[in-house]
Amino acid sequence: MLAHWFLAAIHLLAFALGFWAVLTRGTAFRRLNAGLGEARSVLVADNLWGISAVILLVTGAMRAFGGYGKGTDYYLHQPLFHLKMTLFVFILLLEIAPMVVLIKWRIALGRGAAIDTGRATLFARISHIEALLLVLMVVAATGMARGVTFG
Ligand code: HEM
Repeated sequence: MLAHWFLAAIHLLAFALGFWAVLTRGTAFRRLNAGLGEARSVLVADNLWGISAVILLVTGAMRAFGGYGKGTDYYLHQPLFHLKMTLFVFILLLEIAPMVVLIKWRIALGRGAAIDTGRATLFARISHIEALLLVLMVVAATGMARGVTFG
């Protein structure tokens, strides 16, 4: 029971961290594009966003498939679990472009070279869309946890 509680708390705290980090990354991209911020702020927020995503995935998978929740069968037959996972996949797909570019930024900055900030506005928008998808995941998750079904 303590392990269930611990995992649930970590899962929720990772959501809080991830939501804050992805919003902050979006704002940092926007500030950078306006010539007000530094690439470092984007990268720090991106690190936290990445860490929170891994924690969400690991704790979520343990709860869904590792015997620390209501059992795999429950979730696989819960439509809102599928909605939640679909939203998660959308986030992962949206994340591909910023992830690739930010890896290039890290390499360039490591070498003391210039970075290409041409797509910063697009990545700000993507970050904020990802935050919205996280909110929708919470809506799906709370219904899923309470056995809400349709029809
Ligand atoms: C990535 C963003 C994610 C967000 C924002 C999120 C959000 C949440 C929230 C708010 C809850 C609590 C629901 C409640 O008790 O009212 C929850 C529970 C849960 N989540 Fe996630 N989650 C995420 C990722 C995942 C992933 C990737 C998985 C599975 C692979 C997962 C599996 C679960 C499970 C099994 C529960 C327990 C539901 C229950 O009490 O039966 N989550 N999630």
